Amino acid sequence: MFLTRLIYASTIGEHFSQHTIEDILETARHNNVKHNITGVLCFNCSYFLQCLEGPRADVNETYKRILNDDRHHNIVMLDYREIDSREFSDWTMGYIPSSTISIPINLKFSEASEFNPYAMSGASAYMMLLELKHSVPTL
Ligand SMILES: Cc1cc2nc3c(=O)[nH]c(=O)nc-3n(C[C@H](O)[C@H](O)[C@H](O)COP(=O)(O)O)c2cc1C
Repeated sequence: MFLTRLIYASTIGEHFSQHTIEDILETARHNNVKHNITGVLCFNCSYFLQCLEGPRADVNETYKRILNDDRHHNIVMLDYREIDSREFSDWTMGYIPSSTISIPINLKFSEASEFNPYAMSGASAYMMLLELKHSVPTL
């Protein structure tokens, strides 16, 4: 089965709390190990940016569940492609909090200084995630 990478942006739902993000990460990590999915989830007070990589069918199935999750909305796919190797193989689902996303990093990869994944191309989003990967410890 071909390795596939999917990147999407979404907006957090109402009643979102720190517990919600902890629940999401716990479920994601538990499920992703079973399906050989790796990746990273970036989050600030408004938006998510997530990269999933793994076998094509598993990435598709996982994304289908994510699309139906009412803890976020306005889900927009930024990139979907076959890949030769993973970039986040150490992370069942790495978490990058907003404090890691500095103004210079936002300016480098998007048009503005605030984190807004909708204003980024798929390529820019991917490059930003690669850069952020080096600034957080492996989980
Ligand atoms: C922003 C966000 C990211 C998520 N990431 C994942 C993920 O990487 N893997 C996963 O299995 N579920 C993820 N989920 C949870 C799914 O939407 C869904 O609740 C879960 O897969 C259901 O799992 P269950 O059938 O084992 O209860 C995410 C949800 C949100 C809101």
